[in-house]
Amino acid sequence: MASVNSLASTLQQQLADALTAALPDAGTADPLLRRSDRADFQANGILALAKKLKGNPRELASQVTAAIPAGDLIKEIEVSGPGFLNITLGDKAIIETLAARAADDAGRLGVPYAQNAGTTVVDYAQPNVAKEMHVGHLRSAVIGAAMVEVLEFTGESVVRRHHIGDWGTQFGMLIQYLIEHPQELDHRGGEEQDGEAAMSSLNRLYKASRALFDSDEEFKARSRDRVVALQAGDEETVTLWQRFVDESKIYFYSVFNKLDMEIRDPDIVGESGYNDMLEETCRILEETGVAVRSEGALCVFFDDVKGPDGNPVPLIVKKTNGGYGYAATDLSAIRDRVQNLKASTLLYVVDARQSLHFKMVFETARRAGWLNEDVKAHQLAFGTVLGKDGKPFKTREGETVRLVDLLDEAIERATAVVREKAEKVGLTEQEIVENGEYVGIGAVKYADLSTSAVRDYKFDLDQMVSLNGDTSVYLQYAYARIKSILRKAGETRPVAHPELQLAPAERALGLHLDQFGENLAEVASTYEPHKLAAYLYQLASLYTTFYDQCHVLSDDNPAEVVENRLFLCDLTARTLHQGMALLGIRTPERL
Ligand code: ARG
Repeated sequence: MASVNSLASTLQQQLADALTAALPDAGTADPLLRRSDRADFQANGILALAKKLKGNPRELASQVTAAIPAGDLIKEIEVSGPGFLNITLGDKAIIETLAARAADDAGRLGVPYAQNAGTTVVDYAQPNVAKEMHVGHLRSAVIGAAMVEVLEFTGESVVRRHHIGDWGTQFGMLIQYLIEHPQELDHRGGEEQDGEAAMSSLNRLYKASRALFDSDEEFKARSRDRVVALQAGDEETVTLWQRFVDESKIYFYSVFNKLDMEIRDPDIVGESGYNDMLEETCRILEETGVAVRSEGALCVFFDDVKGPDGNPVPLIVKKTNGGYGYAATDLSAIRDRVQNLKASTLLYVVDARQSLHFKMVFETARRAGWLNEDVKAHQLAFGTVLGKDGKPFKTREGETVRLVDLLDEAIERATAVVREKAEKVGLTEQEIVENGEYVGIGAVKYADLSTSAVRDYKFDLDQMVSLNGDTSVYLQYAYARIKSILRKAGETRPVAHPELQLAPAERALGLHLDQFGENLAEVASTYEPHKLAAYLYQLASLYTTFYDQCHVLSDDNPAEVVENRLFLCDLTARTLHQGMALLGIRTPERL
């Protein structure tokens, strides 16, 4: 027993069949089934169909109703208004379906695998070497990781790619500076350094070399030569470059670790990873006429991309001086992902401010035939993180906020919230510390995931760790409360009883639980993880209503009612746990 059809999909099928039976000439018609306040569902599709066939919609609706097979699924179906169908499902069908979900021995709550699964390469969590990470890198990591999990859960093969910025002119400057100031090398610890120390020494070096680069023309010239040496693979240069990369990785890993996120080394394939392909990429583009020479550079032009002066702005794949930039690397990465990794979809979780770049890169790849009907590319573009004042998030001094400081503050605030309730729950000091991390990191991730990605959002820690409202803490508490009820129930186990009549709050909760798989399928196909957050928030809200209206462990309840309500509690907890895990958020058992 594995995957379970949702009630909505079974109903949809029955209605579609009934429509075909009532109207054999209509072909396949969509009954347009929606959740409704009046009944469980409303079908609105008959109206349009009757209009098309010039029939009477109410009559047609009655015919459809008559053609629906008898069974437990539908308790009541009535024609309303000009020709809608209001449908109420049977309590038995609801509990039986949920019981099948709970019994799924694959532990997937009955969620089916997608039928047309392919391979998606997800490009996310891509910070830059020798530079501090900022909140934008946090967004890419959090949103990307959630998409990876959801896609994998629905059966897609996923290849993760962290396209880190580890190539380009700034390395000439950094390496040249190191060569000319060998004493800098000595007090650089290497392996045994922690992430913070690694970053601060890189920062110092970056600032010093930048200052020299801006003030000393001869140093600038030597730095440029150094880039050429790097790209040509000169041994000494490459060794020093590798040190920068390794040291930066120590720092990246320390941040990702704090974010409770697993990043694997083989998945880090930065810009440098495509160095060997750049020349060939340009040659193909030039030979096929996709790119043309313009003022010494190799360029791709687009009808609809123009600068403020009305002149076309090209995508430059090779600069006049022979150097390759961001576009050449991305185009080569596409070739690699399509031809070697056999991707059917390329997903880029990148700041919306790079949308023009990707628009031009994708269009170029389509012209070259690397992207086509079978291989699609999509940018999951995200907005800017704003401070409380509504301006891009900066420190008071106007500098980029250090991610680690931000995460530490979130954990600190969350720990205070956890501590306040800790005594009542009887948490040990160790549990308080651990939960503080789960709640703090969860709060940051959830705030990022719960609004549509493309919108800017305000980074407001007070709001993020609030117990009321659409926050991860609210969901985590809902989960912990359910777990505490299940513990209190002791010997009494959750058991589904399809013969029972359900209260309205039980039905509402049950119908929402049944929608989990459909929600995930939608998130996977629209790349909108905020819809999963919204689903979970609604689940917790429906659970709260259920809990207020239906006593679970009451001595007044017959034993079957207690068991059945425990069953709803248990399935809610499992669904919350699974959904939160897909978002990368932990759900402590006691909170
Ligand atoms: N490293 C880039 C940045 O910090 C993001 C890379 C996005 N991915 C890509 N394939 N271009 O802005």
